[in-house]
Amino acid sequence: MAKIAVTDGLSDEAVRILQSAGHEVHIKHHEQSEINNGSLSKFDAVVIRSATKLLSQQIMASVSDDGGIRFIGRAGVGVDNIDINTATKMGIIVCNTPGASTSSVVELTIGHLLASTRHIVTADRTMRNGEWSKKRLRGSEIGGKRLGLIGLGRISRGVAQIARSFGMEIHAYDPYVEEVPGWITMHEEVDTIFSSCTHISIHCNLTEETANLVNSSRISMMPGIGLDGTKCGNHIVSCARGGIVDENDCSDALSNGQLSSLALDVFSTEPLIESPLMNHDGFHGSPHIAASTLEAQSRIGTEMASLIIQFFKTGKTDYSLNNV
Ligand code: MLT
Repeated sequence: MAKIAVTDGLSDEAVRILQSAGHEVHIKHHEQSEINNGSLSKFDAVVIRSATKLLSQQIMASVSDDGGIRFIGRAGVGVDNIDINTATKMGIIVCNTPGASTSSVVELTIGHLLASTRHIVTADRTMRNGEWSKKRLRGSEIGGKRLGLIGLGRISRGVAQIARSFGMEIHAYDPYVEEVPGWITMHEEVDTIFSSCTHISIHCNLTEETANLVNSSRISMMPGIGLDGTKCGNHIVSCARGGIVDENDCSDALSNGQLSSLALDVFSTEPLIESPLMNHDGFHGSPHIAASTLEAQSRIGTEMASLIIQFFKTGKTDYSLNNV
């Protein structure tokens, strides 16, 4: 039976499922320095979220002459914190749970979009300070505006459906998708999303191509006037990955009025301690909580537990990110 290290938490239900299948589960955060010194090499499998980084050095240190990890489970979607190539070379299987948090991320994205355009956070903050800012906090509707989606996967399509029901016109850029519903207007260039949409939501992976994709020059293309003629300003939201949005450029754009709001759940450095963004009322931040719901964590946990059980029973999984 396998010895499993869980470094960033896992649902109680998943732990029970794994233990009932005879596995040993050790829940403890391992610091990067401990991992570099081989703390994971005493385990057969490791389950991580985004806080633990398993890049080449850490993966190499997690395998020893008499064993070490054979399974890396990413309890969530993003795998930019795992060096899959090194894992493959070392014969380690890598699995994630790509669909389990979709609804939760969709809901937070829509929540941020509405909170930003209706100043919900500032309204609460100022009211607690004794201010009644009824006139100052005039917002704009999202209905009658264009929403540009960068990346058109599961989450983005969920956002598109809800935004459409609010009366938004949906535009998207994704060079990798083929089948797209007729009500989504696809663009061949990412720049035309910026030049046509007042509201943009980011849903792509962080790659060399998408790093700092949202920058001053693209923000300056945004129209600021909605499809319905409202001077609603420009609004950007990202619950995807830190590093796609250039946070300094966005801070400048919030200062000079090119951006009216920016809502981020993900940051180039996490945790975000200090940032020029904190000086802007138009900035709405959340500490990488898009998948942090009871439902998503329960689905993620049970999916991860069944992948682990299957792997240690058969040596294979129905689904993995690499072939070993
Ligand atoms: C994910 O990729 O699943 C999310 O960003 C949530 C997380 O990392 O915890």
